Amino acid sequence: MSEAACEPVQNSGQARIVRDKLRSFAERTADMNLITRRRFIQQTAFGAVALCANRCARSAEPEPGIEVVLEEPIGTISPDLYGHFTEHIGGVIYDGIWVGEGSKVPNQGGIRTELVEHMKRLHPSVVRWPGGCFADSYNWRDGIGPRAQRPRRTNFWSDEDFLKSAPDGPIKYEPNEFGTNEFIRFCRLIGAQPYLATNVRSNTARDFDEWVEYCNAPAGRTTLSDQRAVNGDPEPFRVRFWGVGNESWGCGGNFTPEEYAAEFRRFTAWVPRFGVPLAFIGSGPNGGDLDWTRKFFARLTERDHGLIDRLYGWAMHYYCGTAGKGDAIDFTVGDWYELLGKATRMERLITEHWAAMGEVDKLRRVKLVVDEWGAWHRAGTEVDRSYLFGQTSTMRDALVAALTLDIFNRHADKVAMANVAQLINNLHSLFLAREDKFTATPNFHIFEMYSAHYQGKSLRVIFNVPQLEGEPAKAGAMPSLAGSASLHGKQLVLSVVNPHVAEPREAQIRVQGASIQSGRGRLLAADDIHALNTFEQPRAVESRGITVSAQSGGVRHVFPPASVTCLELTLG
Ligand code: AHR
Repeated sequence: MSEAACEPVQNSGQARIVRDKLRSFAERTADMNLITRRRFIQQTAFGAVALCANRCARSAEPEPGIEVVLEEPIGTISPDLYGHFTEHIGGVIYDGIWVGEGSKVPNQGGIRTELVEHMKRLHPSVVRWPGGCFADSYNWRDGIGPRAQRPRRTNFWSDEDFLKSAPDGPIKYEPNEFGTNEFIRFCRLIGAQPYLATNVRSNTARDFDEWVEYCNAPAGRTTLSDQRAVNGDPEPFRVRFWGVGNESWGCGGNFTPEEYAAEFRRFTAWVPRFGVPLAFIGSGPNGGDLDWTRKFFARLTERDHGLIDRLYGWAMHYYCGTAGKGDAIDFTVGDWYELLGKATRMERLITEHWAAMGEVDKLRRVKLVVDEWGAWHRAGTEVDRSYLFGQTSTMRDALVAALTLDIFNRHADKVAMANVAQLINNLHSLFLAREDKFTATPNFHIFEMYSAHYQGKSLRVIFNVPQLEGEPAKAGAMPSLAGSASLHGKQLVLSVVNPHVAEPREAQIRVQGASIQSGRGRLLAADDIHALNTFEQPRAVESRGITVSAQSGGVRHVFPPASVTCLELTLG
């Protein structure tokens, strides 16, 4: 056997043939929108990995490996990084969350029971509401008191072309059945903290103060806290997180960063506390707009640097869209890699904005809050004609979620909170629902698997793996494995994404300064990269338990193609 034959198999001529076969197979089947590759991969790629295992033992080439560095903790992984977002848009609130007390759909005080039960599995930490763009048109007073007497208003999204041919209803005319008390009850049912976004564009600072008073003043102290009690909630809500506007550069007022800084100063100059450590979140940039970040920070602090302490978090929004051209469920292999490549841009956005913030905030008092993120596809896959932005998620979106959550974990020192957009019947949703039908999407399973990272110490992980080549690389450089790790006493949680549509990837996992004694894990993978859950087949895509065996202090593991793995490893 020649030296060349001892290379890791993905570099050998034989491997190239295998890889080419896999690639042409994947392209062919993707074009047909039907990848049924299980048998083929078992007979070829997994065979190739077995070959690699034999040959690599004698190879001089470094083996693909994942090395976890115990001595370089990054920060604690707050469950707030796995937060959610709910807006009065399309089918998110009405039908998604709120079905009404008299509904035939099982509910708890009007809130969809199946959603509550699924959310409890995630142990969610925080939910943002009522928008989004809707927030800057919302008057919180419209959503309190007896439901039958609440005013109906034109919904912010009612003029969207998409809704032109949709029937009239709560999607266009906001009935205000779901208001502050209902939202807080939803949060309490699922065990999450509320994050409320106040209206800066069309309400006043006084309206903001009074909303805080309505929510947080002790019972019996003010007219507003009495009102809250009459509305069924004598106990204060103790809302800590308050967004000061939303996308203030756009739908939230078309402000310049300097104008918005002035509004932010005014809105936060005095707000009643009632013993709650209020955390104000400023409306940050659209994606890579560093100018917005720099100018806001400079203007906020120009006369008094101490005003930096008013900011708990600086909100950033990033959607890895397909620019209106991409269908949510009917996509090519090229589209797959393009979207995953775009998802990974989140990392650069975080580090760039973090650096820009640091030019003013030298003591690093302010953290990033990515309060809208996800994949945004074109319309056409919504479960109801009127559910604006109500796209259906596939395995591709699940990998976007995993890559993104791994980025947040790796930057746990910089990002304080993140909220996927949006919870149900919308963009990167965890759930789809229509009347009595309900399903969790593949995204839900990623959130459930990744909850193993909660409160862990984020650790640096070195992925000694090759970059993807050929078709996958057309949309930009992408490593053949990516992920993050967290430490919980003697337990190490390691999440790993294999983005390749057809190639499994074997890697030796080691922990610097410790040995792996045993392990187990969960895997989200499907035979078809387009796989998704439907009302008829709600469990077509779900995670499953896997076993791993530790040997000589490490673990050798094969990560299946187009998959997400979350390993829990016991260290000795
Ligand atoms: O999530 C949908 C919309 O996207 C939000 O309302 C807005 O903030 C963003 O532009």
